[in-house]
Amino acid sequence: MNGQVRLDWTPKTGSGDIEFFFVAPSTGWIGMGFSPNGEMNGADMVIGGVRNGSPYFNDRYSASNTLPVVDKQQNYQLISGAENGTHTWLRFSRKIDTTDASQDYQITNEPVEVIWAYGDKDPGTGEEPAYHGRQRGGRTLSLLDATGNVGPTSSPPKGGRKPKHSSEESSNDSSEEGRG
Ligand code: HEM
Repeated sequence: MNGQVRLDWTPKTGSGDIEFFFVAPSTGWIGMGFSPNGEMNGADMVIGGVRNGSPYFNDRYSASNTLPVVDKQQNYQLISGAENGTHTWLRFSRKIDTTDASQDYQITNEPVEVIWAYGDKDPGTGEEPAYHGRQRGGRTLSLLDATGNVGPTSSPPKGGRKPKHSSEESSNDSSEEGRG
């Protein structure tokens, strides 16, 4: 996992939730989100981390290449967050359809650009995260498969926390998804 970000996701049949597990190689803030174009502009995202042993986390929205604003409606719930000497990981969930059309991406079985970034430091209490520099990227993912689109008839995964889906990407390969 060294030098890589990783995302696992598990749609929860019936409840309409989708759970994410996101890991990035930093002990500072980490963020991921859904973008209409692979850029920050128009992206629904979350930023979180662990500061002095306590996780922090919120649902944000970005209209441009600047600090994403905290959403008026918080539609992502942190389940747990932790870090070790090299990595931070966050487990969180949201509704597949959050109904916050203005600041959240509504997940469908269409492919979506998943973007990520991380910073070297946690923001202090009451402060905002700082620019990520080259530590950002993205990849197109299909979060729901075309057939098993979490209809009310399919059964939920039993027990355990095995992710149904997973994606890993090198954090230093900023050329892979290109810019512009
Ligand atoms: C913490 C505050 C943030 C600031 C001040 C910021 C600022 C910027 C700036 C100035 C750029 C353009 C220069 C560059 O490509 O590096 C950029 C690009 C980018 N940012 Fe952020 N960002 C922030 C947070 C985030 C977060 C949380 C994410 C992901 C969830 C993210 C994802 C990206 C991506 C994917 C690009 C490249 C877009 C492209 O290829 O055109 N940023 N950001």
